[in-house]
Amino acid sequence: MTRKIIIDTDPGQDDAVAILLALASPELDVLGITAVAGNVPLPLTELNTRKICELAGRPDMLVFAGCAAPLKRKLVTAEYVHGRTGLDGPDLPEPTMPLQDKHAVDFIIDTLRAEPAGSVTLCPLGPLTNIATALNRAPDIAERVCQIVLMGGAYFEVGNVTPAAEFNIYVDPEAADIVMKSGIPIVIMPLDVTHKALTTGPRVEAFRAIGSAVGTAVAEFTDFFERFDMAKYGSEGAPLHDPCVIAYLLAPELFTGRTINVEIETASELTLGMTVADWWGVTDRAANALFIGDLDADGFYKLLTQRLARL
Ligand code: RIB
Ligand code: CA
Repeated sequence: MTRKIIIDTDPGQDDAVAILLALASPELDVLGITAVAGNVPLPLTELNTRKICELAGRPDMLVFAGCAAPLKRKLVTAEYVHGRTGLDGPDLPEPTMPLQDKHAVDFIIDTLRAEPAGSVTLCPLGPLTNIATALNRAPDIAERVCQIVLMGGAYFEVGNVTPAAEFNIYVDPEAADIVMKSGIPIVIMPLDVTHKALTTGPRVEAFRAIGSAVGTAVAEFTDFFERFDMAKYGSEGAPLHDPCVIAYLLAPELFTGRTINVEIETASELTLGMTVADWWGVTDRAANALFIGDLDADGFYKLLTQRLARL
């Protein structure tokens, strides 16, 4: 029994690895991939999504362009991390596969209404603008979503784009607030766990040793974007954020966390986009998310490398 998912993404090298992992995993039925503005503007995130699908040998995949800007704020991008194209590292060919005409938000709504209730999981890997827009436009879909498994937020790790906020949440905090209050079962992969999934030298060499176009490209993705993180954190390797979402679907036993209340700061300029996670249960606010805090990093990289070798 395969699990139906929609990946919402702002590629981004780590998004690329997440998409490759999903397309390499027969347990997952990727109904479509929706691009959102985030790491780089929408024309680049939709183009990068198609480049990645072709790298995976999936020119048949349905790719949709979504929202070009956050709900209420000016877009903030991260070329300083991902490069001007958003996918710097390997030189991937221009795609020939089409971009779907339908807007990503309409695809999300139509798919959730057409598929059996509770059968589709949403996997946001970037700002939550597309997801929140779909929920605003079609409130009836909330109860039809099986689960949202997203990369975003931070508690113990605090912020990566400001001292208080992680990038995906910071770019569109109002969208994140709508998602967190939707009542949909949510699993959050915050920096607390992704910063424990570092692309160390041996792990990158294992990607390269796959010896395929995919393995080489993934090694070159990680070589590129880890330079920023290593300079910033002094860590040996970069956090491989987004693939944690897909790995959770494949092997949840690799991850541990707590079901707690998580709310989003949308007013304060100082802490805008902060995920206020009640990890210690000091409030009586209702739990609304499984907040992941740790993973078996070796198990994660073993799974990831094995799957990438299938493409
Ligand atoms: O903060 C990390 C997140 O922001 C990742 O999803 C990365 O791709 C960027 O979107
Ligand atoms: Ca991303």
